[in-house]
Amino acid sequence: RTARFTLDPAFTVGTVDPRLFGSFVEHLGRCVYTGVFEPGHPTADADGIRGDVLDLVRELGVTAVRYPGGNFVSGYRWEDSVGPVEERPRRLDLAWRSTETNRFGLSEYLSFLRKIGPQAEPMMALNLGTRGVAEALQLQEYANHPGGTALSDLRAEHGDKDPFGIRLWCLGNEMDGPWQTGHKTAAEYGRTAAETARAMRQIDPGVQLVACGSSGRSMPTFAEWEATVLQETYDLVDYISLHAYYEPLDGDVDSFLASAVDMETFIEDVVATCDHVGARLKSRKKINLSFDEWNVWYMSRTEEQVSALDWPEAPRLLEDNYSVMDAVVLGSLLIALLRHADRVTVACLAQLVNVIAPIMTEPGGPAWRQTTFFPFAQASRYGRGEVLDVRVDSPTYGTKRYGEADLLHATAVRGEDGTVTLFAVNRSRTGPLPLDVALNGLGLTSVVEHSVLADDDPDARNTLAEPERVAPHAAEGTTLDGGRLSAVLEPLSWNVIRLA
Ligand code: AHR
Repeated sequence: RTARFTLDPAFTVGTVDPRLFGSFVEHLGRCVYTGVFEPGHPTADADGIRGDVLDLVRELGVTAVRYPGGNFVSGYRWEDSVGPVEERPRRLDLAWRSTETNRFGLSEYLSFLRKIGPQAEPMMALNLGTRGVAEALQLQEYANHPGGTALSDLRAEHGDKDPFGIRLWCLGNEMDGPWQTGHKTAAEYGRTAAETARAMRQIDPGVQLVACGSSGRSMPTFAEWEATVLQETYDLVDYISLHAYYEPLDGDVDSFLASAVDMETFIEDVVATCDHVGARLKSRKKINLSFDEWNVWYMSRTEEQVSALDWPEAPRLLEDNYSVMDAVVLGSLLIALLRHADRVTVACLAQLVNVIAPIMTEPGGPAWRQTTFFPFAQASRYGRGEVLDVRVDSPTYGTKRYGEADLLHATAVRGEDGTVTLFAVNRSRTGPLPLDVALNGLGLTSVVEHSVLADDDPDARNTLAEPERVAPHAAEGTTLDGGRLSAVLEPLSWNVIRLA
C-alpha cells in the first residue's frame, strides 16, 4: 500500500530554531582529549584543536554546543579549568572513573567554538550536584562580566580580555538520576535551581536558563519531577530539559526502529506538564523544551566498562560504531524533533566526537564520519525554515513496545526561499514503500534531489579500516507532476527529497 500525505503552506507547526541542531562535548572518554583536542596531531593548530575534526564539525552543521557535561559536570570545579595550563590540577572524575587533567578548559572550549564559526554557540552546564548558587555566580562573573571585578579581571589576566558572552546555561544535569553525584529530590532540586536562577538574573536578567527535567521518560519520578521543579522555577527559567537514548532492547529491532514514537510521546507529555503548571500558576508564559541529550546509544554495555576503570586519562568509552540501521533511527529522531519545532527549541545530539558520536578519530590518525553523521548534516543544512504540518496515512507494522507503528515517518520544512525539503524514513526491513504527496499551493515544480541512506546490508558501518563504506546515494524515479510527488522509499532508509 502507498503512504500518503498532503502539504499546504497554510498548515504549519512552527519555525525551526537553529539551536535544534546543537551537540554536546563532555569530558568523557575521548570526546575532548584525542577527539576535539590533540596537541601534536598532524592537523592540530597552535591551540591543539584538530583541524580534521573542525572541518567535519563544520560540515555537520552543529549550532549550540553543550559543555562540559553530562554527568561530569556534577563534580566540575570551573576554576580548575582556567589559567596557566601547567598549574591546573589533576582531579578524579567520579562520573567516569577517569582522571581529568584540565588541559582543555573553559577558554579552550570557547576558542574551539569561535573556530567552528558564527553558527556555534556556547551552552554551559553548571554544577548543581556538589556545588550551588555561589559557584554558579562566580563562573558567570568570570565568564561574562566585562571587567573591573576580581573574577572578570582574572579572566583578562588569563588572556581573555573580552567576556565570553555565554547566554544559555543549564542548571545542573540529570539531577533526578540516582547515579548523579549530588542527586536530589525534585523539591530539593527545584529550590536550588530557583535560587540559582534568581541570583544569576541579578547579574544579568537576559540569561537563558534550562532547568533539569527527567533523564528519561522511564524514570519513576517522570512528570511529577517536571511539575515539582517547574512549580518552583516557572517564572525564572526558559526551558526544561529532556534526555533520551535508544537501542534495540532484548534484540527487539522492530521496536527500536519505532523509537521516535517514544520520543514524540515524551515531548508531548512534557509539553502537557509544562502547560499544566502554567495553567495552575495562571501564567501566560510558555516554557520551551531543551532536548539536550538524544541519540542511539548501546547503553547496556556501558556500566560494566566504566566500573572496570582504574582512573585512566581519556579512556576509550562509549565508542559505539553505528550501522545504517542506527542512522535510520537517528534520522527518525531528527524528524520527531522537527515535528515539534514549535516547543522544542534547543536540542543536542549527544555527543560530538568519539563518544556515541557522529565523528570518530584515531589518536595521531584520521577522523571520519559515522553513518549517523549524514542524517544530522542533511537535516541541519536543509531543515531550516517553517515546519509544515505532516499527517501521514501510512501502512503500519506491529511492534512489541509501541503496538502498530507507521512504516512512514516524515516531516517537511519550507525554507525562506520557498523551497521545501521532505525528510522521510521507511521503517520496513523488508519492502520498499511507495510515497505519494499532494502539494497544495506551494508553487513547486521540480525535484532538486532525492538522497537516500540505505544499504543492502543494514549492518554496514564506517570504520577506521573502511571509513567511506557508507554514504548517501541518489534515488531514482522520484517525480513531481501536476502538484503530486511520487517516490519509492527503499527498505530501511533515510530520505531527503528537495523540491523547488
Ligand atoms: O551522554 C552520556 C551521558 O548520558 C551523560 O553524561 C549523562 O548526562 C547521560 O546520562
